[in-house]
Amino acid sequence: MSEQLLFVNARQLVTCEGPPRARRGSEMNDAGVRTGTGVLVEGGRIARVDDEAMLRRAAPQARLVDCEGGLLTPGFVDSHTHAIFGRARYEEQELRATGVPYMEIARRGGGIHASVRDLRTRTEQELFELAAPRLRSLAAHGVTTVEVKSGYGLTLEDELKSLRVIARLAATLPMRVRATWLGAHEIPIEFRERANGRREYVELLVHQMLPVIAREKLASYADVFCEPGVFTVAESREILTAARAAGLQLKLHADELAAGGAAELAGELAALSADHLAAVSEEGIAALARAGTVATLLPGTMLFLGKRDHAPARRLMDAGVPVALATDFNPGTSPTTNFPLVLTLGVSQLHLSANEAMLAGTVNGAGALGLSDRVGQIAPGFSADLVLWELEDVRELPYWYGEGRCRASWARGKPCHVHHLALTFPR
Ligand code: NIG
Ligand code: FE
Repeated sequence: MSEQLLFVNARQLVTCEGPPRARRGSEMNDAGVRTGTGVLVEGGRIARVDDEAMLRRAAPQARLVDCEGGLLTPGFVDSHTHAIFGRARYEEQELRATGVPYMEIARRGGGIHASVRDLRTRTEQELFELAAPRLRSLAAHGVTTVEVKSGYGLTLEDELKSLRVIARLAATLPMRVRATWLGAHEIPIEFRERANGRREYVELLVHQMLPVIAREKLASYADVFCEPGVFTVAESREILTAARAAGLQLKLHADELAAGGAAELAGELAALSADHLAAVSEEGIAALARAGTVATLLPGTMLFLGKRDHAPARRLMDAGVPVALATDFNPGTSPTTNFPLVLTLGVSQLHLSANEAMLAGTVNGAGALGLSDRVGQIAPGFSADLVLWELEDVRELPYWYGEGRCRASWARGKPCHVHHLALTFPR
């Protein structure tokens, strides 16, 4: 029999238990807070969630994990990151502070273009060595499932290099890592400078990159930065339709800075998620609601860009759109791996309750990745992805903002991050 682990003595257990799909509306009011409840793990999965004394009797052989009165939650699902990049871009932060907008920096050849120039000079090994500690840092903030996008390569060779780094991270790290192909992150400068360059780049994406990526199974999802000045709705539709035909699931950077019909497109294509949405229109909200597409909100990005107009989380929720929260971890607009800080912003800027923010960072993140049947909940049959916090109440997660209160985490029942917890306690 495989080893059993029994988690005991949690002050609160937050299960997020419920149907295996993204939650909407009033379903987000209750994150399933329990007391006196233990969690039995076997073979990397949750076997039972029950009265602690009862579990101790039922599984006398189990190795005990003493939660020492802390808070036990499901691992966070960070469903939107751009973790494969080279150097940082701190010079742009100061430029923005003097009034130069994000898109203007891009027009001057900075922004995504700067990261592209840099990534193209780096080897796969170098990129792996840069990315691994970043993902470990996410794990140290309670993330046990992470989506990672390519998108700073923008040539066949450099996108493949980025996706191979993600595959290596998935094979090496204890956390669950999922890859997204974001070849359509920007029109590369060399194509922007040519008369028919936009068209040529879209053709390259669809006819050269996508077939290789699909054949080598290097990505589960395809994403496009659909935004005025970057990819148009028509181009995004073409790329995503081809990606779906090639077997990839769809995500979309939609209406981040200006409303341009991107959320409407995400709804039309029934994408898994539409992300950002700070400028989403009423029609866009209705389209997402009709399709059941998850709205992945990234308040850290708006904060870092110095913007006041956050995504209309409550209007999305009132319309029945399932809302997820993610870091958008990237060198340009959101250089943070602090997932609980995103919950803080979810509460203070997007007006979510702590329970809603918790579900947005777990179950609904899983929904945004099509993983609702295996991660995001502490419930029988789900992956044993657990986080122990030096906190007593679920409402403290968004409260102690910017602090690192994660003490330990487990992914598939194996240690994912350990801060200071003795994993074996005398019985
Ligand atoms: O999600 N919006 C596009 N992509 C990233 C930013 C990328 C960058 O600036 O490097 C985002 O904000
Ligand atoms: Fe992004």
